[in-house]
Amino acid sequence: MDRSFTAKHLWLFRASMVLAVGTVLLIAKGGLVHSAGAGLSVPDWPNTYGQNMFTFPLEKWTGGIFYEHFHRLIASGIGVITIVVAVWVWLVDRRRWLKTLAAVALGSVIVQGVLGGLTVLMQLPPAVSIAHALLAQTFLLMTVTIAAATSRAWVTGGDAAPVPVESRLRTLLASAVVMTFAQIVLGAVTRHTYSAPAIPDFPLSNGAIIPDFTSFHVAIHFAHRVGAVITSVLIISAGVTVLRSKQFARLKQPAIWMMLMVLVQFTLGATVIWTRQAILPNTLHVAFGALTFATVFLTFLRAARWYRFREAAEVRTATAREARA
Ligand code: HEM
Ligand code: HEM
Repeated sequence: MDRSFTAKHLWLFRASMVLAVGTVLLIAKGGLVHSAGAGLSVPDWPNTYGQNMFTFPLEKWTGGIFYEHFHRLIASGIGVITIVVAVWVWLVDRRRWLKTLAAVALGSVIVQGVLGGLTVLMQLPPAVSIAHALLAQTFLLMTVTIAAATSRAWVTGGDAAPVPVESRLRTLLASAVVMTFAQIVLGAVTRHTYSAPAIPDFPLSNGAIIPDFTSFHVAIHFAHRVGAVITSVLIISAGVTVLRSKQFARLKQPAIWMMLMVLVQFTLGATVIWTRQAILPNTLHVAFGALTFATVFLTFLRAARWYRFREAAEVRTATAREARA
């Protein structure tokens, strides 16, 4: 691979960063649409009250229309930036996997827009709203990966750099990525089946440690709480493993961020319950869900890039061989 990092790479990286940060903001805005109950404030799509969405007059952006219409406009902007980044990657980068990823990201943003439109036209069926919520988070990971792969550190870093270390951290990080996504799925189902009120207390659940499973709503909501504990334990264990070892210096920064994000996210989850789904904590809970997922994934990506993971015995043999030499 060509390891020179020229001005055109720098600008591609900057555009990819704008895309990734813009996607986090769009996810927060989408979370606000649902939290404010504004999903059907604009009943048609792709038009807005029969008018072209780009010329819809500003004075009509009132109440829920503001939330929903503005969400569509930001989404259109993200769509345009995705096209720019994808074409740019195809023009300046030689990595085939990155070109494929850029093309998949472009396809995903189109599908995401259509899902957004369908959820309006079909009046928010849970399956479509859940798919829209989950594709948003998956699309974010694509944009984060593009930004990481176009950064100077990644482009100029050599393949020979990876240090051989034990595989325990890789297993922990991979489990944390998978579990965080599972937790987001449980959160989206809880949210779009309106199961939050089924357990109105916290830290107890309907007055008990394990509630009576009297309905689907209680079961899915409780599963999300159990998932929160497992996700937090995995992320913090991986983070502590990084911080306790001098070997993982390159992972220290993202590891601190992912631990911070999951702690904030857990606290926001509790606040959602204590405030009975007040708009602000509820919207922030969606946004920090995305930030937690992105930081856990970035830590995993960095680990995979900079460390060559081995079974403990293999690492011991390699170290002994090095000591003898
Ligand atoms: C890149 C494109 C888009 C992204 C990343 C995105 C993201 C999101 C997210 C994260 C949510 C919150 C889901 C939740 O709270 O569980 C949401 C909600 C929503 N989005 Fe989008 N969106 C996009 C495009 C669109 C478009 C083009 C429309 C067109 C109508 C749309 C309509 C909606 C609606 C109606 C909701 C509320 C759904 C509900 O209350 O169940 N979105 N969006
Ligand atoms: C690791 C920690 C957690 C993560 C990653 C997480 C993630 C999420 C996400 C992403 C959503 C929204 C999904 C969507 O539609 O886009 C959600 C919803 C929800 N979460 Fe969490 N969550 C966590 C912890 C908690 C905790 C500790 C609680 C409660 C004690 C909680 C309660 C809820 C509730 C009630 C909803 C649905 C809100 C509504 O109906 O509007 N979460 N969670």
